[in-house]
Amino acid sequence: MVKVAVVGATGYTGEELVELLLRNPEVEITSLTGIVEKESDFSLLYPRFGKKISLICKNLDVAEVAKKSDIVFLALPHTVSMKFAPEFLKKGKKVIDLSADYRLPSDVYEKWYGTKHVDADNLKTAVYGLPELNRKNIKSAAFVANPGCFPTSVILGLLPVIKTVSQKDKAIIVDSKTGVTGAGRKGLVSLSFGELDENLRAYKVNEHQHMPEMKHILSGVSGKDIKLNFVPHLMPIRRGIFSTIYISSEGLDSAEKIYEAYKDTYKNEPFVRLRPMGSMPELSDVRGTNFCDIGIKLAGGMLVIVAVIDNLVKGASGQAVQNMNIMYGLDERLGLV
Ligand SMILES: NC(=O)c1ccc[n+]([C@@H]2O[C@H](COP(=O)([O-])OP(=O)(O)OC[C@H]3O[C@@H](n4cnc5c(N)ncnc54)[C@H](OP(=O)(O)O)[C@@H]3O)[C@@H](O)[C@H]2O)c1
Repeated sequence: MVKVAVVGATGYTGEELVELLLRNPEVEITSLTGIVEKESDFSLLYPRFGKKISLICKNLDVAEVAKKSDIVFLALPHTVSMKFAPEFLKKGKKVIDLSADYRLPSDVYEKWYGTKHVDADNLKTAVYGLPELNRKNIKSAAFVANPGCFPTSVILGLLPVIKTVSQKDKAIIVDSKTGVTGAGRKGLVSLSFGELDENLRAYKVNEHQHMPEMKHILSGVSGKDIKLNFVPHLMPIRRGIFSTIYISSEGLDSAEKIYEAYKDTYKNEPFVRLRPMGSMPELSDVRGTNFCDIGIKLAGGMLVIVAVIDNLVKGASGQAVQNMNIMYGLDERLGLV
């Protein structure tokens, strides 16, 4: 049995981790921590876990958590993770960090997250945890940087074609829509029911902190400097990411060849499903699952790609569990649907 700790268990991704880890027969959850006024049973904070888990949710004590666990999931805000990751790694624990702290080179991180990176050593060794791209490296990793939610959908949507895209001066256009849990469990007026219900808004147009992550990874895969326009939107739903990607079809292969590239890239992937040519996936197809569903269509001078995921599962905690399974040589589907 793998002994697992969830740090940040009181947040949205932490809660989702508990749900998924309870379904994994090779795992024992041994520690749950958050920032709590009074340490109490986790099922008092989240009654839906009553009779499923009996553990006190404690404030974080690194030595105590490390003593009880083989692997630690850090479901913490960025800047907080990089304070704790080095401590757990020093104690010989495996770590999967769900924050953005270890996904980018330090200069790019500092520019986009507006804060100094304080753990250059572990940044060098962190493996970007997108199994469809990095499975071999994840297998032998002690430290995994779990990808962002928007980047997971966009990178998976583009992987099969990115090497053949010749952009000239044109950028790839990415229009993504997210549910409100993507912002975490914080109480902001802009995220409240009254502001969101029956509404739709674009935000951080070409300024979202996930844009450099997509560019960094896709440029690495393609060997070219990939240009992106990224416009995120907030939808009045709890969970889900719906990314529509537009690429000029000028210079691209035929529709049949492009579709073959998608089929070939994902034929052995347990959590990527390709729709028939021209058929588009919907959010309800993936909600609550670890799947990324992809549809493509070549029409009107454009290759249009739609990639959908559940932000809390394939976009965060599900992918983190998939990575853990790979790190321990387990069936990577364990605990995941
Ligand atoms: N939400 C998503 O869809 C999603 C997707 C991909 C990646 N991520 C990333 O995953 C991480 C967690 O996201 P989330 O949505 O779960 O956020 P969240 O709901 O705000 O939860 C954050 C957790 O961290 C704890 N925490 C905050 N500051 C802390 C500190 N100084 N020391 C110890 N614990 C602290 C919080 O405790 P309290 O609640 O008890 O204060 C809570 O348990 C973030 O870095 C986020 O960017 C999120």
